[in-house]
Amino acid sequence: MISHTMLEALNRQINRELYSAYLYLSMAAWFSAENLPGFANWMRVQVQEEQFHAMKFFDYCAARGGRLTMLQIEAPPNTWDSPLAVFEATYAHEQKVTKMIYDLVDIAAKEKDHATSNLLRWYVDEQVEEEENDTDILGKLKRVGTDTNALLMLDKELGMRVFTPPAPAGSSGQGAP
Ligand code: FEO
Repeated sequence: MISHTMLEALNRQINRELYSAYLYLSMAAWFSAENLPGFANWMRVQVQEEQFHAMKFFDYCAARGGRLTMLQIEAPPNTWDSPLAVFEATYAHEQKVTKMIYDLVDIAAKEKDHATSNLLRWYVDEQVEEEENDTDILGKLKRVGTDTNALLMLDKELGMRVFTPPAPAGSSGQGAP
């Protein structure tokens, strides 16, 4: 049985992962309205990634016999100044999430909860990938600058992204693509 402290912390993280999904959905809506369907597609795939992260925690808590409480999901921002500003916000958000995951790792260690520590290793790896994806696109956007043609080419590239579900929830292993 999972401890109350650990369960409460994971319960909060489910809410934060769902907020992440909501934030990226808001960004997808902004890109759609800006006529950048490829960027919008990239964000929609990101929504699926975040839903997966939330459900992986959800399934794990259920497997450990925990009773979860669904918390209110905060409304995300809905407007940004530029595609670059969106990805700066995305990267800043993922850095915050990484810190949250590290805090969970600390709680699991304090609670001597080895099962949750194992689960969290997957998320630690996943965050490396999440931050890398953002810095990669940020770098490209900085090179694009004010070149509209280059922006449209990047839009085409991001339009190719598809969601591939990672290893089944509850198992550790490789991160999401
Ligand atoms: Fe669920 Fe993007 O971290």
